[in-house]
Amino acid sequence: MRDAVQRPGSARQTLCNADQYEALYRRSIEDSDGFWLEQAGRLDWEQAPAKGGEWSYDPVDIAWFADGRLNLCHNAVDRHVSQRGDDTALIFEPDDPAAPGRTLTYRELHAETVRMANALKAIGVTKGERVTIYMPMIVEGVLAMLACARLGAVHSVVFGGFSPEALAGRIDGCGSRFVITADEGLRGSKRVPLKANVDAALAQLPADKAVEGVLVVRHTGGDVAVTEGRDHWFHDTVSDADCPCEPMNAEDPLFILYTSGSTGKPKGVLHTTGGYGVWAATTFSYVFDYQPGEVFWCTADIGWITGHSYVAYGPLLNGAAQVIFEGVPNYPDHGRFWDVVEKHKVNILYTAPTAIRALMREGDDFVTSRDRSSLRLLGSVGEPINPEAWRWYFDVVGEKRCPIVDTWWQTETGGVMITTLPGAHDMKPGSAGRPFFGIQPQLVDNEGGVLDGAAEGNLCITHSWPGQARTVYGDHERFEQTYFSTYKGKYFTGDGCRRDEDGYYWITGRVDDVINVSGHRMGTAEVESALVGHPKVAEAAVVGYPHDIKGQGIYCYVTLNAGEEGSDELYAELRGHVRKEIGPIASPDHLQFTDGLPKTRSGKIMRRILRKIAENDYGSLGDTSTLADPSLVERLIEGRQKR
Ligand code: PRX
Repeated sequence: MRDAVQRPGSARQTLCNADQYEALYRRSIEDSDGFWLEQAGRLDWEQAPAKGGEWSYDPVDIAWFADGRLNLCHNAVDRHVSQRGDDTALIFEPDDPAAPGRTLTYRELHAETVRMANALKAIGVTKGERVTIYMPMIVEGVLAMLACARLGAVHSVVFGGFSPEALAGRIDGCGSRFVITADEGLRGSKRVPLKANVDAALAQLPADKAVEGVLVVRHTGGDVAVTEGRDHWFHDTVSDADCPCEPMNAEDPLFILYTSGSTGKPKGVLHTTGGYGVWAATTFSYVFDYQPGEVFWCTADIGWITGHSYVAYGPLLNGAAQVIFEGVPNYPDHGRFWDVVEKHKVNILYTAPTAIRALMREGDDFVTSRDRSSLRLLGSVGEPINPEAWRWYFDVVGEKRCPIVDTWWQTETGGVMITTLPGAHDMKPGSAGRPFFGIQPQLVDNEGGVLDGAAEGNLCITHSWPGQARTVYGDHERFEQTYFSTYKGKYFTGDGCRRDEDGYYWITGRVDDVINVSGHRMGTAEVESALVGHPKVAEAAVVGYPHDIKGQGIYCYVTLNAGEEGSDELYAELRGHVRKEIGPIASPDHLQFTDGLPKTRSGKIMRRILRKIAENDYGSLGDTSTLADPSLVERLIEGRQKR
């Protein structure tokens, strides 16, 4: 096989070797329902499903296991108590390594989840309610998700780094009447004013959308304002009373998670109970080859899909032990990840290329000075990993002993879709690898023509899988439009991809106006809309450009209203404005004032040109003669060179 790195051998029996992969994959395609109904047996069902996938991509209507009934909190928590009640479920590692940590067994996790569910009940949460969770990476964040699942409430987790404005939009978007938060979060010793942000967000909601109850977890002990009648301290509300799991239909909603697209406001992607649960459980087991007693650590925040599928659900559905880390990779120093690995004897580490690149830059000593002999498997997710970072991860972090799984997937896919499996496949640095069971990728050209064999094109999936998102909350038409209209009858991922002669898939990045900043998805339209919301800005165009650490950076072209002048002060003001509107993750890396944007005579902005200029690549601007003002290109290049 060309360009492959042989998977390191191990005496340990893996769950799936190469022959088993081929056989299971074939079966998952030829007998999809049989295969998935069997995998559904990983979960406890109150009523086992007899139905497999019932779906259509035109019109779009997707269901899996529709006649089954189950509760995912029961599956993640309760059912483990009798079998492995004394086994570790969660190991909390606080931001400050000197602060006390916390370990919960499955029995303790059960007791805590019941307490959280009782608190939610006490403030009025019932089945079907949408509950917004705006929490730090602490045990209570996971408890909040599990407690919602227990009651049949639909959680919508909003990343704690989003601004009050962004939070308000997401509360409003799904009609949440309840919010769970903490006084403050901690990241690299800095306090994040979560409760104050919630207060600011709620103040922006119209009276008819007012939130009825806010549950506040005391974490740092920082001062917060309390609105009588609306805000409740978790510790004043809890009770240990019995709180049974609400039986749910497989297709009842489990959660909404907002994610960016190429146009408009972020979409509330909706996942349902049975299919998502089976997908999270099955992918976790095979992809990480998890075996009892191992310690798993996914560094993602619960505000992202990775934190849903591989912190809250996947590991717990499998009865795994896992680390929950509140902090950041570079606090107190650049060795923190490896301190955590050493301290908790982590066997499986799952993180993002942006973190790997940032740590690689600091040199090997931070890594080699810590004991990483517990590590068995390394994972990467969120963006393409460049071969150099892959090599460093493999050679230095994993000492060439640990296979790497480079897992490609999306918020909409619910769990891993393309990856190598540790016992089955050799690896190719930079390639995600082979399709997971049941996944039928297809590459198409821009006209929708199917490309066979080794080829490069737009990545589609032709057959539904259990973990697939079912809709955009409250806007099914947008769901159809976004994912199923570009290539009729197929799910279009928005990613470009190459398939090599060995059937390995190489994701080349987004082909739409979505950029991937430090593994976080950002719609250029969102940043543009924030910029034009500033009173001095007339027009804005935002593109991504290659960034050494973040993968992609945010480059903004801004035209100002008549009479306004670009200045360092305005530059700083606009950056601050975007941070306020969206959050620090949307901070522009570059902002260029310009007297115009390159448009065709019909008024369409030619983003291709803006991307090339942002990349400092002026040789391949292509045909600029169709521009309304071709001379603008020179001025844009001049402006770029001044930055
Ligand atoms: O472009 C792909 C990139 O991240 C996008 C999905 O982002 P999000 O929904 O936020 O989910 C991220 C975590 C699953 C994809 O469309 N992406 C994700 N994983 C990879 C990747 N690109 C290349 N390689 C990956 N392993």
